[in-house]
Amino acid sequence: MIAAAIDTPAVLIDLDTAEANIRAYQRYCDEHRLKLRPHIKTHKLPGLAEYQLAQGAVGITCQKVSEAEAMVNAGRMQDVLIAYNILGEAKVSRLRRLAERVNISVVADNIVVANGLSQGFADADRPLPVLVECNTGAERCGVPTPAAAADLALDIAALPGLAFAGLMTYPPAGQTASVTAWLSQARDLIISRGLEVPVISSGGSPDMWHAHEKSAATEYRVGTYVYNDRSLVERKVCGWQDCALTVLSTVVSVSGKHAIIDAGSKALTSDLFGLEGHGFVPDRPNLFIDLLSEEHGRVVSRDGALDLKIGDRLRIVPNHACVVSNLFDTVVLLRGDRHVGEARVAARGQVW
Ligand SMILES: Cc1ncc(COP(=O)(O)O)c(C=O)c1O
Repeated sequence: MIAAAIDTPAVLIDLDTAEANIRAYQRYCDEHRLKLRPHIKTHKLPGLAEYQLAQGAVGITCQKVSEAEAMVNAGRMQDVLIAYNILGEAKVSRLRRLAERVNISVVADNIVVANGLSQGFADADRPLPVLVECNTGAERCGVPTPAAAADLALDIAALPGLAFAGLMTYPPAGQTASVTAWLSQARDLIISRGLEVPVISSGGSPDMWHAHEKSAATEYRVGTYVYNDRSLVERKVCGWQDCALTVLSTVVSVSGKHAIIDAGSKALTSDLFGLEGHGFVPDRPNLFIDLLSEEHGRVVSRDGALDLKIGDRLRIVPNHACVVSNLFDTVVLLRGDRHVGEARVAARGQVW
């Protein structure tokens, strides 16, 4: 039973489960000689990042400069990859200040970004390590071909203040073989043109247990694995018992065929991730959250029997845990069902 004193809606983090997830994946990476660089966008908590590092992670990944600033200011982070094109003088000068405090590396997928980084770091004491971001099929950022990766690698290596540090991709799920072929070709081309490729960084929780298979990667970035969520359970990456983040909500209204809970899109997010419904209640699998408005969630029954009354509390595994973390200033920490404290979500809202 979750303590009645915890008001709702609230984000609950079961630390026992989160820590077990962190240890299990670290063990996997150690066994397969892969470096692990977790993405902290899922939890945004310095305490959990420190736990990841203590278990053997080589550093952390952040998505934005402000996210990295929040983590470095609040925790003992010495090595941070910012996996994003950093554009504009204002951001580059913040990046430079951060790089004077800890080891920072970044990515670039075009020469405009690389030139901006170079201008900001030309007179720095140490060159800024820059990885070339590769579009291996996810159709987000990334150079489009291995030949373009090699061209940009050489450009970066020639720019003042920068050091070419390797390749980075956020790969499409389920396509390890083609991603490996892409990255291997880019690596071989770059080596044939006289540069070393010290790091090949790939990532993603959907394929996390296949990261070692025919992979060109030297390091792996996972984010969602720390909490897991409904999308990963549906993909059979984990089970409900491995889900460390839940949203606790209260039934505030019941009317015949449906009930309303106090968690809407501002607590559960609107992300569907290709699923139907807005989260899952493992304790009450007959329930289905079919509709959200901002502060209301509508719950119906799959089998006709809506055995809910006002005041009942539901513990929901959201479709997508990472975005939920960004919606709450604090999370409630549990060990099992025992309430052990609260944590401020230090990097919440740090998206600039
Ligand atoms: C650059 C980058 N690396 C790693 C990850 C981690 O992915 P996941 O949350 O699937 O583990 C993400 C997720 O968005 C990402 O954008």
